[in-house]
Amino acid sequence: MIIGVPRELKDHESRVGVTPAGVHALVAAGHTVLVEHNAGSLSAMPDDDFQAAGAEIVGSAHDVWRLADLVVKVKEPLELEYRHFREGLVLFTYLHLAPARALTDALLANKVTGIAYETVRDRTGALPLLTPMSEIAGRMSIQVGAACLEKERGGRGVLLGGVPGVPPGNVVVLGGGVVGSNAARIALGMGACVTLIDLDLDRLRQLDDIFGGRLHTLASNSYNIERAVRSADLVVGAVLVPGAAAPRLVTKAMVGKMRKGAVIVDVAIDQGGCIETSRPTTHSDPSYVVDGVVHYCVTNIPAAVPHTFTLALTNATFPYLLKLANLGANAAIRQDPGLAAGVNTVHGTLTCKPVAESQQRDWQPIAERV
Ligand SMILES: NC(=O)c1ccc[n+]([C@@H]2O[C@H](COP(=O)([O-])OP(=O)(O)OC[C@H]3O[C@@H](n4cnc5c(N)ncnc54)[C@H](O)[C@@H]3O)[C@@H](O)[C@H]2O)c1
Repeated sequence: MIIGVPRELKDHESRVGVTPAGVHALVAAGHTVLVEHNAGSLSAMPDDDFQAAGAEIVGSAHDVWRLADLVVKVKEPLELEYRHFREGLVLFTYLHLAPARALTDALLANKVTGIAYETVRDRTGALPLLTPMSEIAGRMSIQVGAACLEKERGGRGVLLGGVPGVPPGNVVVLGGGVVGSNAARIALGMGACVTLIDLDLDRLRQLDDIFGGRLHTLASNSYNIERAVRSADLVVGAVLVPGAAAPRLVTKAMVGKMRKGAVIVDVAIDQGGCIETSRPTTHSDPSYVVDGVVHYCVTNIPAAVPHTFTLALTNATFPYLLKLANLGANAAIRQDPGLAAGVNTVHGTLTCKPVAESQQRDWQPIAERV
């Protein structure tokens, strides 16, 4: 099969759909990989590395799309990429079709098989191609929170790990899922005193087992939350109620009682945020202050570390890509129900129920179409 890897065009997107290691494995399996010139340069993966792994470097995006049977990307195609769509093309990438009617129309009209990272499921029903994002955001939340605690950044000038004779900083993590547990791991590694709050007692038991007595766990209720955040140096917001806006666990009044110069990193901001005083920020202007408390609410935290992010994402996507290449899309989809859940469009039919519902259009289950 010929696999095409175009350079990402979306503003500020620095990842690439395949790494040199992925190219190496695809070429070893007998496939041809066409990588657009400079596709990996912003992820610190130069053309030379792709070439050494066996890829052909192609000068124009047009040729990559035209020659490839299967195109692998990171972000959803932009409008100027729709002209490359054609019947039989397989596209494997984040698609986020629910709000994107024009992209859905273009995929359907051109009979593209559109497989969306965000709807692929593993054996447990989880979303394995979203997990790397949460792992990175959770680990980075402590790194950026520690930096915001520095005096120059408006913080109260606390070193999270303390030093001998001086107590460590207090970190409070709201939510103990993928983001929260990764945040706790890094904060504990830095020597901070860490309290993690979750509604799910089984999850707290599990984390208690993993981290032993080093992690303090608390059941989630407003009494516990208020007391914990009042004495916190750093609060990380990491709750998720799937499909709903994040619950506002920390009110404006609670923020008012926090220590001056304390820091809030609200990772859940992409779901509206779990702190009442949070509002979305960007990497170019990441933080602001309310009631003396520094707020960091960047909606795409992992974008700051594209090299790690590309490696983490492609570790998760690559097994599916190899299966698609080795078996062909139809056989791979028939064989793997988790991959089938990723198919949003095929042969001009919409096959993803949530997308159909949000756009109020017809759909058919994938099993009836391949
Ligand atoms: N800003 C970014 O760049 C970025 C990156 C990745 C993920 N996120 C966001 O981070 C959030 C967390 O993601 P995740 O992958 O860790 O989700 P997850 O489902 O793994 O974990 C969420 C946790 O929140 C807990 N929870 C739900 N309601 C709660 C409550 N009232 N009190 C305490 N805990 C509660 C759940 O029990 C669960 O353990 C999501 O909103 C996700 O979209 C943001």
